[in-house]
Amino acid sequence: MNENTRRTFLKAATTIPIIGGAVLAMHSILRYFKPTMAGGLDSMMAPPDTAPSPPQVAAELSELMTPWACKDFIYVRNSVEYSSRKTQGAKIPGFVVRLPDEFVTDKSDPKNFYLIVQRICPHLGCTFNWVPDRDNLHGGYNYLAPLPFHPYFACPCHLSVYDPTHTQAISGTVDGHAFDKLRGKVVSGPAPRPPRTMSFDIKDGKILITDTEGGGVG
Ligand code: FES
Repeated sequence: MNENTRRTFLKAATTIPIIGGAVLAMHSILRYFKPTMAGGLDSMMAPPDTAPSPPQVAAELSELMTPWACKDFIYVRNSVEYSSRKTQGAKIPGFVVRLPDEFVTDKSDPKNFYLIVQRICPHLGCTFNWVPDRDNLHGGYNYLAPLPFHPYFACPCHLSVYDPTHTQAISGTVDGHAFDKLRGKVVSGPAPRPPRTMSFDIKDGKILITDTEGGGVG
């Protein structure tokens, strides 16, 4: 190899890696300012961690034959836990109430005759009660209900009272279905919203809870 050929070879041997490095660096810089969107936004986000909760029986229909019949139950909602157990179950108390016909506007769907709520007070998380007695509601929860009387939900901690015959505007989702109002209007006390709702099916004479509205207190 003569002197000129050797020089040319050495020049190429040092220049090619420098150009290659510059191209790679430029590519990274351009990608930073214009990231690839192949697959759309969904491709950039991991799916949410979910742990399915099987449908659970809240009540037999035979237990709720009379207007204002009420039954309490526990729904176990699973969530992901990053431990060897993988999931954990939260026990959520609830009420299912048989509404009287006069408070059901669309009678074509049998589900409309039942009101199902979490018993966890949306104020600060106490467990609220079903109060079917007007004097008890007045003396124990400081709310003198109008006549004719019907039962209310009422919380012993800070005396929030919820009216199951009236709705209150609030938006959310449960089981993937959007809603824009809920039964259980706050008529007294500091609660900021009606009780959380649950989704359910009616099968083989049973009410099956399929999911519950998420979120904490407040
Ligand atoms: S926790 Fe129920 S009113 Fe405060």
